Amino acid sequence: MGEGKFIGLVAFRREFLMILDEEERVKVKGTNDALEAGGAGIQWEIGFHPSPTCRGRDIIPAAVRPLINVFLVPHMNVHIMTAALFEENIASRKVLEKCGFLFEELVADAIELPESKTGVEEKNVGIGRMRWDRNAAIV
Ligand SMILES: CC(C)(COP(=O)(O)OP(=O)(O)OC[C@H]1O[C@@H](n2cnc3c(N)ncnc32)[C@H](O)[C@@H]1OP(=O)(O)O)[C@@H](O)C(=O)NCCC(=O)NCCS
Repeated sequence: MGEGKFIGLVAFRREFLMILDEEERVKVKGTNDALEAGGAGIQWEIGFHPSPTCRGRDIIPAAVRPLINVFLVPHMNVHIMTAALFEENIASRKVLEKCGFLFEELVADAIELPESKTGVEEKNVGIGRMRWDRNAAIV
């Protein structure tokens, strides 16, 4: 077998980490998890991290579009996916748009970033949510 090279990670999950209120998150996740496998109402989430040497090369859309068309729709019957991103992360938003997601909602000042990461005290950032809807998507 030839040598592989790690080019990045794409994750599909149902954790609802964007819901910051823990009680609400547990409730929404429980309701979603209880839906019958393959049901059209199940909400999925996507996250991705291209490896640093592979950024700026359209690798995520090239991986996600066929994943949607060849696996997630025909085998998992996925109808709805969401993705969360920091409001300042324009690159991420563009990548998601290329995968067929539309911007849905911004929760302003949603979380406080630690000073160790930003160098400033009390820096709050907004979290955006994007949505892929099978009935509307062109991928
Ligand atoms: C964010 C991330 C996923 C983007 O992937 P990428 O392949 O590096 O994306 P690109 O650099 O090709 O940027 C995508 C597009 O946004 C544009 N863009 C990037 N930064 C921009 C900015 N500040 N303003 C305007 N446009 C910008 C690029 O020009 C590109 O546009 P194009 O496709 O029309 O050429 C990647 O940089 C990354 O993993 N970052 C760290 C982790 C992270 O933030 N993950 C996202 C979790 S949701």
